[in-house]
Amino acid sequence: MHPSALLGLLSFAAAALAVPTAQTPHSTRSISNLKSHIKNVVILVMENRSFDNILGGQTTPGLENPLQTGPFCNPFNLTDPSEGEACTAPKSFDSVINDPDHAIYGNNIQFYGEFVPSNEDIARGSLKATNKGFAHEQMRLYEDEANKTDLVTQVMHYYTEDQVPVLTSLVKNYLTFNHWHSDIPGNTNPNRAALVAGTSHGHGLNDNGFNNHELPNLSIFQQLTQTNHTWLNYVDPAGGTGPDAGFYNWTYASNNDDKIVPLAQFYTDAAAGNLAELTYINPSCCGVGTTSMHPSGLISDGESFIKSVYDALRGSPQWDDTLFILTFDESGGFHDHVPAPLAPRPDNLTFTLETPNGQDYTFPFDRLGGRIPTLLISPWVGKGVVEQKGVNAGGETVSYSATSILRTLGYLWDFEPFTPRVEWAASFEHLIRGVKREDTIEVLPEAEAFKSVRV
Ligand SMILES: *[C@@H]1O[C@H](CO)[C@@H](O)[C@H](O)[C@H]1NC(C)=O
Ligand SMILES: *[C@@H]1O[C@H](CO)[C@@H](O)[C@H](O)[C@H]1NC(C)=O
Ligand SMILES: *[C@@H]1O[C@H](CO)[C@@H](O)[C@H](O)[C@H]1NC(C)=O
Ligand SMILES: *[C@@H]1O[C@H](CO)[C@@H](O)[C@H](O)[C@H]1NC(C)=O
Ligand SMILES: *[C@@H]1O[C@H](CO)[C@@H](O)[C@H](O)[C@H]1NC(C)=O
Ligand SMILES: *[C@@H]1O[C@H](CO)[C@@H](O)[C@H](O)[C@H]1NC(C)=O
Repeated sequence: MHPSALLGLLSFAAAALAVPTAQTPHSTRSISNLKSHIKNVVILVMENRSFDNILGGQTTPGLENPLQTGPFCNPFNLTDPSEGEACTAPKSFDSVINDPDHAIYGNNIQFYGEFVPSNEDIARGSLKATNKGFAHEQMRLYEDEANKTDLVTQVMHYYTEDQVPVLTSLVKNYLTFNHWHSDIPGNTNPNRAALVAGTSHGHGLNDNGFNNHELPNLSIFQQLTQTNHTWLNYVDPAGGTGPDAGFYNWTYASNNDDKIVPLAQFYTDAAAGNLAELTYINPSCCGVGTTSMHPSGLISDGESFIKSVYDALRGSPQWDDTLFILTFDESGGFHDHVPAPLAPRPDNLTFTLETPNGQDYTFPFDRLGGRIPTLLISPWVGKGVVEQKGVNAGGETVSYSATSILRTLGYLWDFEPFTPRVEWAASFEHLIRGVKREDTIEVLPEAEAFKSVRV
């Protein structure tokens, strides 16, 4: 055979084997592809774990984690290097009793090495996060309660593939974001609000405004109802998170609180093919026996819960139309080595709180929180894919963040970005492929109860 004929044959074979052509983000084509394949979106927001903590031991190429690109080290004491340092290492505990600091000032010292960094210097780029303060802050909070070795293990160590078989299987079978951040470097409810509304409306703590449904802003729940789309917010009756639809004044004022229902109904709705267009699940939190992976809840109990949700969706008659987004609310004070990027303010509100050294810190909501695990799970995404950064509508390459969900759902259900933060976010509709997979795993492996439940 003539060499050029052989070359032609080879390139023909390569084209036939190639994965479907990648879509361009924000394009008419990727949006119409999304709309034609995805009819049901399921969002499960777990609690308080960083990317390096939960996915630190994953071997899938493309993930920047302690196993593949570490180890990463933190000094025991930021101001006294003679005390030595602690580094990332495999094998964490099934639970952590000393809940790491994840208040805004806790994130400040973990990222910037001080409780009150200069917002101007951060915005200007002259103060850069180094993510070196995780061990120090855990020692400061708990040195009277546990020994040094245990404390740094709690924040610096990561889970191996064997310790988290459910997540490992999901990473190997679906799509994992390498650069996905929470929206706010602070607590759970502000982050959950940012995910469903694009702003926490100036809230920086889990204050009573959330439980008293005082938030005034447009949420995904109101948006869907007003455009004749359906949603249900399933809530674990053991409580501890959300219900996130319940943060909003509209939900009660418009008598839509009947769409907040007990979790048990999710399993019957999935089996019967009765899932709404948006399924939003609140896990239980935060002690032993709860399912969100929040300390001191067990990692293995969180894994069992994720498996039960996946297995129900995979067995549902609606599976072929489903996109399951598995994410976390925030990084929970656990070490991650990737600094949080700057991001536009959603509104002109600020939040002020007193830090442990007595100074006030005012946060302008102008940067993202820690890097967290987020996966897309669907017959319409590639197998074992790792997505790096995204592209926003302005053409900039940016890290994905919690508001990427609203940016993408706006394409699916025809609504404009709720806030400038959502407008800025990278969308991910282009990661939905044009070809449905027939090889998706039917049942995930059982969660592994750790042999030693040391906390
Ligand atoms: C860190 O070192 C400084 C300076 O030696 C000391 O004042 C401080 O107490 C140390 N912090 C902790 C948490 O040990
Ligand atoms: C720290 O405490 C654990 C028990 O939680 C114990 O097994 C370990 O030996 C202790 N380490 C040191 C250095 O004291
Ligand atoms: C949130 O709602 C309040 C009250 O309606 C409004 O003043 C504010 O502009 C809203 N925020 C955003 C970002 O839309
Ligand atoms: C929603 O349905 C109602 C009642 O059928 C209709 O009047 C309204 O125009 C619809 N709204 C949208 C945005 O489709
Ligand atoms: C709306 O929020 C206000 C406080 O801002 C509260 O007094 C009122 O009861 C809320 N309305 C509903 C229906 O929840
Ligand atoms: C925020 O403040 C700026 C400057 O004062 C103003 O131009 C802008 O309209 C405000 N944005 C919002 C959402 O209120």
